Amino acid sequence: MLSKKTALITGGSKRLGREAALTLGQAGVRLVIHYNSSGVPAEALCAELKGMGTDAFPLQADLGSTEGTDALFDEAWARMGPLDFLVNNASIFPTGRLEEMELGDLHRNLQVNAWAPFVLTRAFWRRIRGTERRGSVVNLLDTRLVGGDLAHAAYHLSKATLKELTKLTALEFSPELRVNGVAPGAVLPPEGLNDAYLDDLTADLPLKTRGYPQDIADAVTYLLGAPFVTGQVIFVDGGRHLRLGGNP
Ligand SMILES: NC(=O)c1ccc[n+]([C@@H]2O[C@H](COP(=O)([O-])OP(=O)(O)OC[C@H]3O[C@@H](n4cnc5c(N)ncnc54)[C@H](OP(=O)(O)O)[C@@H]3O)[C@@H](O)[C@H]2O)c1
Repeated sequence: MLSKKTALITGGSKRLGREAALTLGQAGVRLVIHYNSSGVPAEALCAELKGMGTDAFPLQADLGSTEGTDALFDEAWARMGPLDFLVNNASIFPTGRLEEMELGDLHRNLQVNAWAPFVLTRAFWRRIRGTERRGSVVNLLDTRLVGGDLAHAAYHLSKATLKELTKLTALEFSPELRVNGVAPGAVLPPEGLNDAYLDDLTADLPLKTRGYPQDIADAVTYLLGAPFVTGQVIFVDGGRHLRLGGNP
């Protein structure tokens, strides 16, 4: 069902983006691997995907800049042909509490984590508006949207905006586009932390089991290919959102 479809995945060269790219590639999806600074891993991933028999090429853009964001979708479309899927995975995750937050912090997080996904989604819709073509978008959210992430306040606000945009774009850009979200729990430790960070979190999860990048990639793949699902957010987090929601 996904074979021969085409996808753009942002921040696709490493970590969760890479796992999603490999899973989609195994299903026969042709891929544009967007990156910002990770050109070497992006090239290596594309070579790996080609070795698996699927077409892939890397494409650089800084989603922190308006110009880079505006150009990316059209460039991907021009290079790969009509796109079927968009995965808005690229993100920044800086620490910082409300006490120190400046407008510039909020702006930087909103730009990469919410505005860029929105601009890409809108560019996708503008391409296929009024045609018989259909597209599917998945936005990467975060399970901590439920309780609020005070240690990453600007990040939290930007992901909350993206969650609302998931709903609004699903409505406004239908029937051409379906737009859904995946809200991961911690499956990879943030930079500077090791697996002990995940072990501590796992002990508190209702399911008491660790999640892996493949769990997130599977949810992304499902939503991309689910023709009767839009405006939905799937929490892939071992049940953590239930606890964050205030339940003991
Ligand atoms: N990891 C987790 O356990 C977890 C938990 C909850 C939610 N999530 C969400 O899941 C998604 C993937 O998580 P992750 O941990 O794999 O992400 P990540 O490693 O923190 O970031 C993914 C990519 O985003 C790209 N990026 C950052 N700033 C950019 C910019 N200005 N322009 C373009 N690209 C930029 C980077 O690309 P380059 O390397 O090319 O610069 C980076 O490789 C994110 O949206 C994250 O919020 C992850």
